[in-house]
Amino acid sequence: MGRVFVSCPLLGDAVERLEREHRVTVGQEHVGVGGEAFGRAARELDGIVSLLTDRIDAALLDAVPALRIVANVAVGVDNVDVAACRARGVVVTNTPGVLTEATADLAFGLLLAAARRIAEGDRLVRSGRFPGWTPSFLLGQRVHGATLGLVGFGRIGQAMARRARGFGMHVLVCTRGGVLAPELERATGVRSLPLDELLEGSDFVSLHCPLTPETHHLLDGARLARMKRGAVLVNTARGPCVDEAALASALADGRLAAAGLDVFEDEPHVLPALRALDSVVLAPHIGSADRPAREAMARIAADNVLAVLAGRPAVTPVATA
Ligand code: DGY
Repeated sequence: MGRVFVSCPLLGDAVERLEREHRVTVGQEHVGVGGEAFGRAARELDGIVSLLTDRIDAALLDAVPALRIVANVAVGVDNVDVAACRARGVVVTNTPGVLTEATADLAFGLLLAAARRIAEGDRLVRSGRFPGWTPSFLLGQRVHGATLGLVGFGRIGQAMARRARGFGMHVLVCTRGGVLAPELERATGVRSLPLDELLEGSDFVSLHCPLTPETHHLLDGARLARMKRGAVLVNTARGPCVDEAALASALADGRLAAAGLDVFEDEPHVLPALRALDSVVLAPHIGSADRPAREAMARIAADNVLAVLAGRPAVTPVATA
């Protein structure tokens, strides 16, 4: 029997399944590995089920000498020092595949909401300031037939492209590996371009890349300035991929029409300059927040812990460079 720390209660039966085979401590929401429960168990732990809000760095790993697995309940692992884990022989796993559709649904929802000023209109109606229909009232950006640029074309980017096709959009993509193979372009109905050209040619830009040192502030002031005047930015990837202060000024001076953001540079803090803008639709990091996705994420994390602590290979190990 191993000893496992689970950051907080999870959906479904993931914790029960772990408890059948191991001694499990469940932490508290918003506390996770930062709390006393973790500190008390640390020296004996074989496994940690972490959330994206838990920072798993070298200092933490030093306090957990017997650790064998960090099972992150997210597809992104930017909260985990994967190299430090590897150096200590600790397996890192994530939850790919099961949150693809949920996240693409939210990203497309933000695109529509930002383009068509839905949240702004909702605020207006609620506050009793709806003056009645006029031809020019609350005009937004046209979605149908517009060009969508996807930065990142993994599972979620591809799911976004499928949705865009239903709206008659043209889809450009920029991938880590450079241009896509022509067969893949044909099969997915997209055209791949270098990032700067994609930014210059897109009416909508949606980020679907992981946060790495290379993608930190991928959209900085200079890149945002390359976007079309009146374009809309959607970010459901990670906040630090965008320089938020530069985004706020591009929106404030009207160069960009709108943004739909589910993630922020310093969550849960959101830059006051962004919160002040009517042209930004703000969501509280809920990309994967539908029940099937969240249950499956918990289940995969448990599967990984059960496998590794039984001496089997992890189900969804994070590839290490
Ligand atoms: C992830 O899995 O990385 C998401 O941000 C969580 O919804």
